Amino acid sequence: MRKKIIAGNWKMNMTPSQAVALCAELKDLVKNDDVDVVYCVPAIDIVPVVNALKGTNVKVGAENMYFEEKGAYTGEISAAMLKDAGVEYVIIGHSERRDYFKEDDALLNKKVKKAIEAGLTPILCCGETLEQREMGITMDWIRMQIKSDLAGVAAADVAKLVIAYEPIWAIGTGKTATTAQAEEVCGGIRACIAEIYDKATADAVRIQYGGSVNAGNAAELFAEKDIDGGLVGGASLKADFGKIVCYNK
Ligand code: PGA
Repeated sequence: MRKKIIAGNWKMNMTPSQAVALCAELKDLVKNDDVDVVYCVPAIDIVPVVNALKGTNVKVGAENMYFEEKGAYTGEISAAMLKDAGVEYVIIGHSERRDYFKEDDALLNKKVKKAIEAGLTPILCCGETLEQREMGITMDWIRMQIKSDLAGVAAADVAKLVIAYEPIWAIGTGKTATTAQAEEVCGGIRACIAEIYDKATADAVRIQYGGSVNAGNAAELFAEKDIDGGLVGGASLKADFGKIVCYNK
């Protein structure tokens, strides 16, 4: 039985002091031992958030990292730095990074490998544009992303990672994929993992849905057999996040 994992993606929101205040506000609302809860926060918020969440059930994630060990990469943050600061998860390949910062699958593959090597759990994002969906190539596109981003990654490591299916047209738009659409692709991703690796790996990997998840649609989405939780943007910055985390209460 896979444990659900519900992660907030704060994106470029919350100054360090706002971040600490939000952690205090949500503290009692996000208690749910049935699920893993993660806040993926801007790099500058990591240290204060790790401190603010000490003794709680919430883990901390980063929103990005670089694949090189260390050195002359001005402005970048390494996996070792994240690990040392108390980070456990890292979002890799969010569509905003792919789009605005031109991150491609070859780069993301290096990031996935480095994160795993450093002992971080990647939350690997994939998803199609509206145009691709309308052309009927959603699953082809996502299979290509998954296969290239995981090239050379061992089954044992894939079993432990998190994949987030985020249809780009549903991110920040208030337009959620229907439960059936979300389940269809999450199931397709699991089938793809079974094909590249094996059934045990596919049964173990956790697959989230992301894209306008809110307190009203979370329970229905998370009830699907292949949806193991959510990656939540906008609603993770509000008290509503507590309702999403406690979707089963
Ligand atoms: P949203 O963002 O929940 O605001 O749609 C999701 C995401 O980009 O991870």
